[in-house]
Amino acid sequence: MKRPLIVAANWKMNGGLALIEQMTNAFNGFVVNDNVEIVICPSFPYLAAFTAAAKTANLNEHIHLGAQNVSAQENGAFTGEVSTGMLKDVSVSYVIVGHSERRSLYSETSVVIAEKVKSVLEAGLTPILCIGESEAQRVAEQTNEILASQLQAVIDIIGIEKFVDVVIAYEPVWAIGTGKTASPNVAQKTHQFIRQFLTNIDSDVANKVPLLYGGSLNATTSEELFAQTDIDGGLIGGASLKVDEFKVICSTAKGI
Ligand code: PGA
Repeated sequence: MKRPLIVAANWKMNGGLALIEQMTNAFNGFVVNDNVEIVICPSFPYLAAFTAAAKTANLNEHIHLGAQNVSAQENGAFTGEVSTGMLKDVSVSYVIVGHSERRSLYSETSVVIAEKVKSVLEAGLTPILCIGESEAQRVAEQTNEILASQLQAVIDIIGIEKFVDVVIAYEPVWAIGTGKTASPNVAQKTHQFIRQFLTNIDSDVANKVPLLYGGSLNATTSEELFAQTDIDGGLIGGASLKVDEFKVICSTAKGI
């Protein structure tokens, strides 16, 4: 089975109604191969607006809406939080979970992240689980150990079988927003490690999980990265805010 190729835009705390209009207009009539999926993740207040704009622009079924975060709780007294049910109400289908900014700036632990992945799956949505090492950890040759422990924390809570519905984004922290994209060789080697780690537990599942690369990915680097055996797309921050560049990145995702 061929894995889908996913190009996801993480707008972070950027963009607004104007960008939604530009982006949906730009993708009107945009055609991708059958197994290529595009996911746009604006901030919470704009999710419903994106759904409406996507309808107006008549975007095709390969363009999906994603959220950047979610609560692990279903409902209740959790001021400021947003549940999976609320996301479903506004047609969200993907949810970024465990981004390094959530881990470092908002103290999300691996257990919290695993609980969020669990809730997202239970709601029938697709989690984009982010994992990645810091620069110091890479220099200390701890990359594999860090990635393994971040993955294991989720496996412990949801079980390996559920990973068939999970998308993993490998985002080295040293590459995020720094302009230092991992080379295709470094990214492929790390993705190969991730795939092998999962294969050792369940090879069938490992073959099905899309592994996205994220970290300063742009229109110059996307084609070669997407061509690597174990790279099944990308999670893009800065470059996804530039409509023309993001379109170019999407068109380098050839799929089958
Ligand atoms: P970047 O961000 O493309 O701006 O490096 C990627 C991300 O954090 O998801």
